[in-house]
Amino acid sequence: MKLNPKPSLNIENYPKWAEILEESGVCTDTIPNSFLETRLRMRMSVHGFNNFHRYYNYLKSLNRNNMEWRVLIDSLTVKETRFFRDPDSLFLIEKFLLSNQYLPGKAQGSIHAWSVACATGEEAYSLAIIIDKNTRATKDIFFGVTATDISHSALTTGKQGIYHESRLANIPPYLRTKYFIPLDDNFYQVKLMMRNRVCFSRLNVLQAKNAPLGKMNIIVCQNFLIYFSLDKHSLILDALVTHLAPGGLLILSISDVFNWSHPALEKINYENTLAYRRKADS
Ligand SMILES: C[S@@+](CC[C@H](N)C(=O)[O-])C[C@H]1O[C@@H](n2cnc3c(N)ncnc32)[C@H](O)[C@@H]1O
Repeated sequence: MKLNPKPSLNIENYPKWAEILEESGVCTDTIPNSFLETRLRMRMSVHGFNNFHRYYNYLKSLNRNNMEWRVLIDSLTVKETRFFRDPDSLFLIEKFLLSNQYLPGKAQGSIHAWSVACATGEEAYSLAIIIDKNTRATKDIFFGVTATDISHSALTTGKQGIYHESRLANIPPYLRTKYFIPLDDNFYQVKLMMRNRVCFSRLNVLQAKNAPLGKMNIIVCQNFLIYFSLDKHSLILDALVTHLAPGGLLILSISDVFNWSHPALEKINYENTLAYRRKADS
């Protein structure tokens, strides 16, 4: 009996896959071919497609909000995250908040922060907790955190703010008591007052430049750029700078970015962090 050969994602059809996936926010340059092929095949078998071309045409015919697109994007993205994942960056944010600009008694106005690829929300809530903790004593300060990602399922988890106890391990007990309520079966939910501070929204960072986000005082973009090829780094980082208010803080991951600078930014030297401040006059 002659077996049908397995369809393969060969060099010929790879570029068009790279193109439609990138339009949806996924950079295939950093995804091993075998992984990409396996994930596409899994979806093809669900629909009974026996070649990549038919599945490609099917995807092309669908709106990007269609469930199939959501499931495919989810299967291609890494959503690993933790509360208080990068303590040194959070210390730097505390320092920034306690600097003259936000000194208790002096400050007025608002703080807008952005968690750029927030996954299931832990980074955005960590940010909200740090801001709340350090500005509580200060009257007349409003703050809000915008939390964006391309994964619909991750954003849904973030909006609910419900996490298993095991995921709260990095949060000091007094902050856990202050900002979470216990639910059944060892789950905890972020208190409503804090959930109300964080606005989850779907955004493909590759299209962030013209997004109606307003000016941010703090932007956190961590453990994210490694999923993009180097030629995309400047595009993404320049878009983040567009949304950074004068005097604002941009926090990246040391392991994500090499040799990048921007004329509107000055680097902040603080241990184990990669951070920049937007010049006040830029
Ligand atoms: C490894 S997680 C990082 C989570 C968080 N920033 C942290 O440091 O813990 C990477 C996230 O980037 C999201 N992502 C990937 N491509 C994206 C894109 N083009 N636009 C927005 N988010 C994207 C993924 O869905 C995933 O949730």
